Amino acid sequence: MASEIKRVAVIGAGTMGSDLSLLFALYDFDVIVYDKSKTALNNLDEKQKNTIEELRQMDLTKKSFEDVQDKITIADKLENVKDVGFILEAVAEDLDVKRKLFAELDKLPREVVFATNTSSLRVTDIAKGLKGGDRIGGMHFSNPPILSLMVEVVKGEKTSEETLQVISDVAERIGRKPVVLRKDVNGFVNNRILMGAGNETLWAIYRGEVTPEELDASLRAIGFPMGFAEANDIIGADIVLAVSKHFVEAYGKRFQPPPGLLESMVKEGRLGKKSGKGFFDWSKGSPEIDMSLAGKYDVNRAIAGAANEAFWVIDDEVADPKTIDEIIKLGFRSPVGICELADAMGLDNLLNTLKRLYQEYEIEVYKPCPLFEEYVKKGWTGKATGRGFYKY
Ligand SMILES: NC(=O)c1ccc[n+]([C@@H]2O[C@H](COP(=O)([O-])OP(=O)(O)OC[C@H]3O[C@@H](n4cnc5c(N)ncnc54)[C@H](O)[C@@H]3O)[C@@H](O)[C@H]2O)c1
Repeated sequence: MASEIKRVAVIGAGTMGSDLSLLFALYDFDVIVYDKSKTALNNLDEKQKNTIEELRQMDLTKKSFEDVQDKITIADKLENVKDVGFILEAVAEDLDVKRKLFAELDKLPREVVFATNTSSLRVTDIAKGLKGGDRIGGMHFSNPPILSLMVEVVKGEKTSEETLQVISDVAERIGRKPVVLRKDVNGFVNNRILMGAGNETLWAIYRGEVTPEELDASLRAIGFPMGFAEANDIIGADIVLAVSKHFVEAYGKRFQPPPGLLESMVKEGRLGKKSGKGFFDWSKGSPEIDMSLAGKYDVNRAIAGAANEAFWVIDDEVADPKTIDEIIKLGFRSPVGICELADAMGLDNLLNTLKRLYQEYEIEVYKPCPLFEEYVKKGWTGKATGRGFYKY
């Protein structure tokens, strides 16, 4: 039973592992953190101190690092990860790396439940070949996990109901809303929708149509907590590149990233927040966005990309509009869901934007999902006509 779990482990002490282990500690779990990199483990204290300081400044916690420090133990070897009821994996976004790790963890007693924080791999593929394939499920947090209020809980083909329940209970115990997805697809829902929009914005930057700051000012101006250039920096260019590769393998060229852009950022060490520089300079903290630049990017383009992927998600029977919107609102901390926003903007307008871009650039990134065209053909163009993603 999840309510009996007092000790958990987080494997990986990078961008996600650092915040996730802190999150567990803030909610009174004892946490063991293991990373194969000594540097990552050595940097953990400082990263967590900074994160908790940010939380205090936002008035989201009264606790100090000293209050939770004792709850976090470092393991310098995987063998020292023991006597825990739950393990959350947050290592590199690489199928082989994750499978090798779980093959080792599979030797732990049967009652230990496993979760993977993968962004773009299927739980089923990660669990393949494991004896305990039923005790692993997806637990996908949005970044920053310390602020995002939702977790996608994903059932792989072998994941048992009990495992899903334990992961959901653990999510609730750390103050996050579990949104259970019973169809296991690459990128689940959140990342598919965000990449649908984010990939178009990367192309816009790549072609020199917009600067990262103009892009982000325009997206913030419509209520998003951040733009996609900043989101890219927070996630890490290396992670976005790995996710893009998995998405192209799974879904084809509609997720093709602009050639060389992310690769050169990775090669030059411009990974984003974690390396101090990406699209923005992070050496003095979060970037200041000049809001007078809002309007230099046509936000319809990003919303059209997100709506297009929402249609694919619905067509694939992964989630309905209500679930999609709940995930985006709580995960991305957006004041509106993508489906309700698209309905308000007019699905016909957004489809025209996509078609115009498809005609101009001739890349599949802009190819409309057939279901999107079907809706508009039927006159289901959104709120104004009483039917779009939703019935009004
Ligand atoms: N960055 C994001 O915004 C984000 C959001 C949601 C999910 N995720 C997912 O979370 C996972 C971690 O992402 P991240 O951004 O923290 O990556 P990261 O590169 O910042 O950190 C990964 C850490 O894993 C460690 N590692 C690699 N192989 C290991 C192994 N075999 N054993 C132990 N440690 C190992 C690395 O040393 C590194 O410290 C990935 O699966 C990623 O897709 C990332």
